[in-house]
Amino acid sequence: MPILDERTLEFFSHSPEQTQRIGVRLGELLPKEAILLLAGDLGAGKTTLAQGIARGWGSLDLVTSPTFVLINQYRRADGLVLYHVDAFRLSGSAEAEALGLEELFWQPGPIMIEWPERIQEILPAEFLRIELHWAEDSRRNLNFVARGAEYERLLRDFRKAAFGG
Ligand SMILES: Nc1ncnc2c1ncn2[C@@H]1O[C@H](COP(=O)(O)OP(=O)(O)OP(=O)(O)O)[C@@H](O)[C@H]1O
Ligand SMILES: [Mg+2]
Repeated sequence: MPILDERTLEFFSHSPEQTQRIGVRLGELLPKEAILLLAGDLGAGKTTLAQGIARGWGSLDLVTSPTFVLINQYRRADGLVLYHVDAFRLSGSAEAEALGLEELFWQPGPIMIEWPERIQEILPAEFLRIELHWAEDSRRNLNFVARGAEYERLLRDFRKAAFGG
């Protein structure tokens, strides 16, 4: 497990199932108001990872691909809602603002955002960013980058939980 530094973590997933399992590990640790940015090309595995995260977090709802939906919501027994935004079809931050997307950052539950670069200007300064890259047929490179002390802590806990390191 190559550890680049305290703020980053990189590894390879060899299957969609492995990507989901990694998501579950992260979802189990998610702080209440966590912001997760899921970056990567079409088919890189963002939604696959999001499915695991929602499951680990304790979602009562089935996670579908939000490809034709801007925002999905997953509920948990304690009433919290995990939001899953797919910004792919947004023209930019102005449209996101017009839609009131920023309000999601102030609701009490966590939020996952696919294609975050589309709405760069409205993103908070601190977050955990996960960059997924296609490597081979079923191999994906995942890079975790923490911004801010809370997310560095999350990344440390995640590293321990997922890799024992
Ligand atoms: N190691 C892997 N991790 C994740 N997905 C994988 C892996 N290997 C193969 N796949 C496949 O790649 C595809 C990833 O699709 P997914 O919808 O998760 O991508 P995405 O990044 O959300 O794409 P989009 O930008 O279109 O929303 C799925 O068909 C999945 O089965
Ligand atoms: Mg997707």
